[in-house]
Amino acid sequence: METSDVQADLKHVLYSREQIQQRIAELAADIDKDYEGRELLIVGVLKGAVMVMADLARALHSHVKMDWMAVSSYGSGTQSSGVVRILKDLETDLMGKHVLIVEDIIDSGLTLSWLKTNLLSRGPATVEICTLLRKPAAAKVDLDVKYVGFDIPNEFVVGYGLDFAEKYRNLDFVGTLAPHVYE
Ligand code: XMP
Ligand code: MG
Repeated sequence: METSDVQADLKHVLYSREQIQQRIAELAADIDKDYEGRELLIVGVLKGAVMVMADLARALHSHVKMDWMAVSSYGSGTQSSGVVRILKDLETDLMGKHVLIVEDIIDSGLTLSWLKTNLLSRGPATVEICTLLRKPAAAKVDLDVKYVGFDIPNEFVVGYGLDFAEKYRNLDFVGTLAPHVYE
């Protein structure tokens, strides 16, 4: 695919590379401060959180360990059902650990709500959530999210880890899709 084709698929840029990097630096500073003197395990949720994890981890000044999970929401279509299946589990024993789940986006919140409960059952000291994007209008559960990059309108977005049919994950910005792509 040519670069020009990618450009033609996008309606507009929501957050540029610079805006994302700036916000991630701010979140990293907050996280460094909040976890000072404690060892932190950051858990990236595959595949969407790959970009946020990579940039957040490099923006942090404290020692962190990194692990990954892959989950999939049961149910049809693009709607999250809240019933989650673990496709790849952590390699780390969470007993006594300070855990920070890193996500690309929170939509209904059902996936993260399930994941937080699941991780809490493993005996960690704390479990918090960091997400680059959140859609407040789509929330179906009351979920306490400690670190939020940007609250966005209830629109489908791609880029910076987020995909439409596995495409656009590699973009270094977040944008909305032109209707001709999904209609
Ligand atoms: P819930 O509804 O459980 O779902 O919070 C979160 C998951 O839904 C996907 N999702 C999106 N993916 N653009 C995407 O590329 C979007 O606008 C979007 N909204 C939700 C995503 O996989 C996320 O982990
Ligand atoms: Mg995802």
